[in-house]
Amino acid sequence: MPEDIQAIERDALERLAQAGDEAALQRWHDEFLGRRAGRLSGILRQLGSLPIEERRTVGSAANEAKARLEAAYEARQEELRRARVEATIRTGRLDVTLPGRRPPRGRLHPITQTMRDLLAALTELGFQIVEGPEVESDYYNFEMLRIPQDHPARDMWDTLWLDPMPGGPWSAAQGRASQTSNAGRHSMLLRTHTSPNQIRVMEKFQPPIRLAVPGKCYRKEAVDATHEWQLTQIEGLAVDENVTLADLKGTLGELARRMFGAERKIMLRLAYFPFVEPGVEMAVDCFVCNGGGCSMCKGTGWIEVLGAGMVHPEVLAGVGYDPERYTGFAWGLGVERFALLRYGIDDIRHFYSNDLRFLEQF
Ligand code: FA5
Repeated sequence: MPEDIQAIERDALERLAQAGDEAALQRWHDEFLGRRAGRLSGILRQLGSLPIEERRTVGSAANEAKARLEAAYEARQEELRRARVEATIRTGRLDVTLPGRRPPRGRLHPITQTMRDLLAALTELGFQIVEGPEVESDYYNFEMLRIPQDHPARDMWDTLWLDPMPGGPWSAAQGRASQTSNAGRHSMLLRTHTSPNQIRVMEKFQPPIRLAVPGKCYRKEAVDATHEWQLTQIEGLAVDENVTLADLKGTLGELARRMFGAERKIMLRLAYFPFVEPGVEMAVDCFVCNGGGCSMCKGTGWIEVLGAGMVHPEVLAGVGYDPERYTGFAWGLGVERFALLRYGIDDIRHFYSNDLRFLEQF
């Protein structure tokens, strides 16, 4: 019987060397090592019929041969796999030396970057950040800011009003932005500035207050190099005892220095907003012409970046603050304008044109 085992093993190894593919390898395995019909397994199955003294020697010889054949089978399998890969590489169908393709990586939009830098600077200056709704009521956007219906100051903000659905309760989802301003009929709108949040936060908190409110605003605007119909503002509000215009000037000067560097010139000039007294505008010298006058700054040498002022006593009284005791300053700055000046971009429309060649530069 051990002779049979040796003969089977010899035959198996010879035949294994000839098995040239997966199918031949499988047939070989079935013939020699298969559980049911395999030739070695057959010998092991017959052990019971052998005289007791032969069982041990035949059994261990067969098991050892089986282990050797299993190992040889696995080695041959690996050999064939390698040969297959090498053949594929030789015929050029798979070039494993090619560098991988990088998936395109997104990056932060320049307005997001500028917004984050502004908010970081404001946080360092002691302002807390809060948010308010983009769909706003006439009451907060205008009325509480001393801009009643039919007041000519409403013309300062070309408003996108929201039509209520006939018959249904009003909701933002049901509403539709209307191109024709018709203040008499509508009460909801897309906020034209972040200033309604002055009222919202003063209704909620008592002085001392030092808050900044970032967010998108919308205007039915004639679009040009410095005006978009969607703009991003950051409202600032500080109310306490003894807050003065000098505090406003100091805060805005420091913010501008941090954003533009010390060498850029800034100018505060008087401006009218119904909810502040006095009102000012801050402008930065034009980066295109360095103040000489060009089409970017419309020949003035200056680019306006924000409106500001001392909170009107009637606004303070409207939210229940004592205007004899408290004073405050507020501003609304245009994030896109800050970004134009910071990066030296000559047209605001690039920001929202979704042109990756532009966006990839930031
Ligand atoms: C306002 O929106 C006032 N709420 C600002 C304010 C707040 C005044 C608090 C006083 C106290 P104005 O419409 O000027 O004001 O806009 C403020 C800033 O937003 C502008 O200086 C400008 O930087 C930016 N801005 C205004 N309109 C546009 C526009 N169409 N596109 C891009 N930026 C704009």
